[in-house]
Amino acid sequence: MTPLLEAIDLRRHYQVRVGRGPFAGKAPLRAVDGVSFAIQPGRTLGLVGESGCGKSTTGKLALGLIPPTGGTVRHAGQPMPPPGSAAWRALRARLQMVYQDPLGALDRRLPVGRQVMEPLTIHGDATPAEQRERALATMESVGLQRHQFDRFPHELSGGQRQRVALARALMTRPDLLVCDEPISALDVSIQAQVVNLLLDLQESLGIAMLFISHDLKVVRQVSHEVAVMYLGRIVEQGEAGALFAAPRHPYTRALVSAIPVPGVRRERIILAGDPPNPVDVPAGCAFHTRCPFGTAACRAAVPSLRPLDGRLVACHRVDDPALRQAA
Ligand SMILES: Nc1ncnc2c1ncn2[C@@H]1O[C@H](COP(=O)(O)OP(=O)(O)OP(=O)(O)O)[C@@H](O)[C@H]1O
Ligand SMILES: [Mg+2]
Repeated sequence: MTPLLEAIDLRRHYQVRVGRGPFAGKAPLRAVDGVSFAIQPGRTLGLVGESGCGKSTTGKLALGLIPPTGGTVRHAGQPMPPPGSAAWRALRARLQMVYQDPLGALDRRLPVGRQVMEPLTIHGDATPAEQRERALATMESVGLQRHQFDRFPHELSGGQRQRVALARALMTRPDLLVCDEPISALDVSIQAQVVNLLLDLQESLGIAMLFISHDLKVVRQVSHEVAVMYLGRIVEQGEAGALFAAPRHPYTRALVSAIPVPGVRRERIILAGDPPNPVDVPAGCAFHTRCPFGTAACRAAVPSLRPLDGRLVACHRVDDPALRQAA
């Protein structure tokens, strides 16, 4: 089947200022450095990794919101049309983004119902009455009430605002949602409601999702497949259940060991140190500075993603008996 979304060797590099005074200069920062994945219709790919590893940049590249430094994005087998063209606008309507901070994503001066309607006034050809009716119906489908149409964003709770943002994203009947930390800004008590809503919507509407989060517990709940990023690259990728049950990359193992499982006491793998400076990525395997299994070989060459037991893993030592034994 042709994937709905395909990212092929995506790269996004920035030139950032480094040093001070007479030593000031520019250095490349590889925010995303050779990322490939595919999402089938109606499926969810979870994208996880520590802060700054390139998740949001990957999401923006997938939607064509920023141009890649290298690589390509394909939608239903077609390359991304030129930004600003009619074909691009039509495609953008089918790809929507849900952000972490719903208040920031909404216009404070406009009633929320108007904002839900807005995508139709841009992309659709419905009459104003039809637009309003569709907005009301969509608001109801995400658990909002009709009388909330005329409320302003600040008059709603955080969870309700995220529902408004979601309703707005759904108005153009997208086939892909990129959700970038959609629940991190919400109260813990509301997080589960919004996650369940996303799951329900996926089931009823068949929407595919790129679900970005550093919360592995939620990612496990919503994803069919998972990609784990470290400093701009995917280090492990595979079917969610298998990956969480038996992570293979030492970095994935550390992340998974930190997920609390009720009633189970597990040995938590604590990673040494912080993630390295992204403008000064360690040579070879970027993870070797924090990896309990690193050797000279790991410092020498960047490991490529290789198939292993039905998934992809980028680790020189993945077949090493010592590492297998530690699992
Ligand atoms: N416009 C930009 N200019 C320079 N560097 C950038 C820019 N945007 C992102 N970066 C850098 O690229 C890297 C990846 O950023 P990105 O926002 O994709 O991370 P993230 O995984 O989404 O992190 P978080 O979990 O904190 O949201 C970071 O080191 C960031 O500082
Ligand atoms: Mg981010």
